[in-house]
Amino acid sequence: MKPLSLVILGASGDLTKRLLMPSLFRLHQLGLISKLNIIGYSCDQWNDNDFIEHVHDALSEFVLDFDDEKWISFSKCLSFISGSLDVKDLATLSKKIDGSALFYLALPPTLFAKAAVKIGEAGLSIESSSYWRRILIEKPFGTDLDSAQFLHSQIHSYWNESQVYRIDHFLGKEATLNLMIFRFANRVLAPIWCSEHIEQVQITYAETLGVENRSVYYDHAGAMRDMLQNHLMQLLTLTAIEPLGHWDSEILRDHKVEILKSIRLVNDTNVDTWAARGQYTAGKINDKDTISYRDEIGIPANSNTETFAALRIDIDNWRWRGVPFYLRSGKRLARNYAEIAIQFKGPSEALPDDISVDNNWLVFRLLPNLQIDMQVTAKLPGMKLNTHNIELTAPYTHAGEYEVSAYEQLILDALKGEKSNFLRFDEVEWAWRVIEPIIKSWRHGEPDLYQAGTEGPNSQNKIMQKNHSWRSINYGNQ
Ligand code: BG6
Repeated sequence: MKPLSLVILGASGDLTKRLLMPSLFRLHQLGLISKLNIIGYSCDQWNDNDFIEHVHDALSEFVLDFDDEKWISFSKCLSFISGSLDVKDLATLSKKIDGSALFYLALPPTLFAKAAVKIGEAGLSIESSSYWRRILIEKPFGTDLDSAQFLHSQIHSYWNESQVYRIDHFLGKEATLNLMIFRFANRVLAPIWCSEHIEQVQITYAETLGVENRSVYYDHAGAMRDMLQNHLMQLLTLTAIEPLGHWDSEILRDHKVEILKSIRLVNDTNVDTWAARGQYTAGKINDKDTISYRDEIGIPANSNTETFAALRIDIDNWRWRGVPFYLRSGKRLARNYAEIAIQFKGPSEALPDDISVDNNWLVFRLLPNLQIDMQVTAKLPGMKLNTHNIELTAPYTHAGEYEVSAYEQLILDALKGEKSNFLRFDEVEWAWRVIEPIIKSWRHGEPDLYQAGTEGPNSQNKIMQKNHSWRSINYGNQ
C-alpha cells in the first residue's frame, strides 16, 4: 500500500505548534498513524532538520508527558518543504507525495481560497482509483454569507465536496460527541425531548481569556462570528436534531440543516429583542487586574466589536415550537464555564399545596469539567413532607484520565474519510443566514460595556422570555 501523507501548509504557525503537532504526536503514540508521512510546508527557509527541531520545541512546550524516547520514532515521520503558494513551489510536493494525501490549511483565513486553488492548479487535488486527495480547512468560513459562498466556489473550482473537510473543532469535543449518544442511547429521554416537556434551552460558553494575540482577526470578527455562528450553532443543532433513520454522515448533516432551516429568521428592525452584545472594560479576573478591550494591543481605541454576544433562537418545527434556545458566549467573563442546559417544565402531577418544587434541569457541562448533571427535587429527609433540590452528577472523565483533544479526533476522522464531524457547506450557509440580520444591524450603534470578571452585560436579560432568566456562570462555584 502506498504511504499516506499529511501536508501542513502553514507549518511554522501557531495552530501547527499548539494544536496540530501535539495531536499528531499523541495519535502516533497510540499507534494510530504510525505510517503517516507528515510534511511541513511554509515559506520559511528551513530544511528537514530545522523543522524537526521546531516541532521538538513545540512538543516539549505543549505536551505534558513529552519525552525523547517517544519522540524518536515520531521525528522519523517528519519532513519539510520550503515554498510559497505559487503553483511552481507547490508542485514540488508531488515529489514527496505518492498516494493518498490530506492537505491541512493551517493558514490565515484570507489565504484559504488562494491555497485551495493553487494546490488544485498544481494538480495535487486529482484522485485516482487507488488513492484519494482531501483538503481540510478550519473556521471562519467567510465573514458573511456572500464571502462564504465565494470561498466555497473558489474551493470547488478544483475540489469536489466529498474532498473538502471543514473543521469546527467543537464537533470533535468529547461533550459534543456525547450529546447525541446520550440522547439517543437512553430511551427514557425520547418521549420528553420536545416542547411538551421542555421549557427552554440555554447554551453558554464563557471564557476568562481576552483577545490575546489575535487582535487583527478578532476585531473584525467579534463574538457573534467567532463563537455563535459556528460552535454554539453546532451545539444547538445537535441538541435539537431529529432522530436519524439511519446512522450516516449525510443523513446526520441533512438533519442538522433541517434544524437550521427551521430557525425563525430575525427581522433587522427587531434585532434588540433577539440579540444582545457587550464589550469588556477593565476589571479583575482570578485576582488579576485586566485591561479593557479597547486598550488591548492592536485594538482601535474606538472599536465597537462585541466581545460578548447573546442570541435567542426559535425553531419553528413541531418539536420545538414555543421553546426558546438561548445562546451566549463572551470573553473576559468571571469564569471558564460552558454548558448546554435543558430546563423541563414543572410537574404535571398533584402535590401537597405547601411544597415547593423547582423545575428540573439536565445539564451537559463542557467547562470547567466534563459532566452531566440532573437537577431534581426530592423529599427532604425528616418527618415533615418537605422538599429540597438535589443534583445527580455524572462526571465522565476522572482526575488524571487523558482527555482526547478535538484535533486528535478530527485529524483521525479526516484521514479515515469519516465526515460526520465536519461541516457540509449548506450548514455553513444556513448558519450565516441566521446571524446575518444581526451582524448587519450591529454595524451601527455600540455594544453595552461590561466589566471584566463579571457575567456579561445586563442587556443579555432583555432577550429572555418574561419567565426565564440566565443561569449563573458561577454555578457550582460558590
Ligand atoms: C475558537 C475561537 O474557535 O474557539 C476562540 O476563535 C475561542 O475565540 C475558542 O476561545 C474556544 O474553544 P476552546 O476549545 O479553545 O475552548
